[in-house]
Parts: sequence; structure tokens; C-alpha cells
Amino acid sequence: MVKISPSVLISDFLNLAQDIKKLEAAGVDMLHLDVMDGIFVPNISFGVPVIKSIKEHTKLPLDIHLMIDRPHRYVEDFAKYADILGFHYEAGSDNVALLKKIRELGCKSCITIKPCTPAESIFDLLPLCDMVLVMSVEPGFGGQKFMPSALDKLTALKNECNSRGLNIDIEVDGGINKETAPLAVKAGANVLVAGNYIFSAEDMAARVKEIKSL
Ligand code: DX5
Ligand code: ZN
Repeated sequence: MVKISPSVLISDFLNLAQDIKKLEAAGVDMLHLDVMDGIFVPNISFGVPVIKSIKEHTKLPLDIHLMIDRPHRYVEDFAKYADILGFHYEAGSDNVALLKKIRELGCKSCITIKPCTPAESIFDLLPLCDMVLVMSVEPGFGGQKFMPSALDKLTALKNECNSRGLNIDIEVDGGINKETAPLAVKAGANVLVAGNYIFSAEDMAARVKEIKSL
């Protein structure tokens, strides 16, 4: 069964609590929280205080996508509220040490790759991961077009997990809509992030159900 992780990046943050209630009612599986530092990506979003408040308002698992430079400096702060804590392969930390540390802190670990990073780069890290995240847009902004080059990477990761006997969630993030979601699932993804496609809908619950049924 495909899991949906809506990105709240384009929510009106003054109405975030109501949006989260709607997403809960719609049966989403987790919330995708995009943390951007203005250095690793050319945009700034939100950080620990906002995530702390979200955690206090929902029982949904929090899927935190760190788009920050040298993420090892901050994982302890985010781990207090994360269920799944992910960071970028390209962000300048010791990836092996950081994946281990995230698990030691009691979270599920996730490594994320940008569109320019080959899937093979993270093959040897798979035993340390509970989830991997393939970006299907350049990280930094919602509302971009899905890059089809992500599809082969999803398949390569799925095959590698199978051949190693690893049961790891494979998440895809960026440009997911009713056309791209089925392609991503067919290629190997089982967790779909969706931001604009859900938040631009008049009826968010109907939109979530639509993606789940594709
Ligand atoms: C981009 C973020 C995504 C993004 C998804 O850097 O990681 O999570 O907000 O938004 P859509 O679904 O609109 O591409
Ligand atoms: Zn994201």
C-alpha cells in the first residue's frame, strides 16, 4: 500500500493546525516537513520551534526532510520531534556516522539524494537506512515539474534493496500529481510526498484519497 506524506511547505502557517486536522481526516500516513537553511538550498523555511508545535498538535508521524548544510550539527534538536529523520547525501556530513546517530537517537533514518546524485552512491548505505528519499525536483521549492530521471533511480534502489534482502521505504519528493504518482509507484516508490497537488485542491481530503487510489 502506498503511503502519502504531504508537504506542508505551502500551507498558510497561521492555519496549519486546521490543515493538519484535514490531512489526518483524509487518512494521510505522515507529515513531510521541509527544513531549508538558505545555504544548502536557496530558500529558508522553518526550523525546530515550528516542528515542536506541530508535534504537539498531531499524532501523525513526522517525516523531516533536512535541506541544511552539515546536518550533523542539528540532528539532536530535530530528533526530539522526528519519527523519520532524513538528510542529504550531498550536505557535507559523515553519512555513515550520521545515519547511525539518527537511529541511536530513536528515529528512523533516511538519506536523500538530489537529482544530480546517482542511486549507486547510496547503495552501501542502505543497511543503515529505514527509508531513502529520491528528489524528483531540485530541492528548495515546491511547485516544480517532476523530473523523469528519478524513475530509473527509484527502480535501481528498489532492485538493490531486493537483492540485499532489505525492506526499506522508498520515498519520492517533488512534482507528484495524478500523472506522476502512478509512474513513481510503478518504478518502485512506496512513499509519495505531495505539496502543491494536495494544498491546491479545493477538497484536500478528496485529493489525498484520489492519490491513494491511483
Ligand atoms: C522541495 C521539497 C518538497 C516540495 C514538494 O524542496 O522537498 O517536499 O515542497 O512540493 P511539490 O509536491 O509541490 O513539488
Ligand atoms: Zn521535501
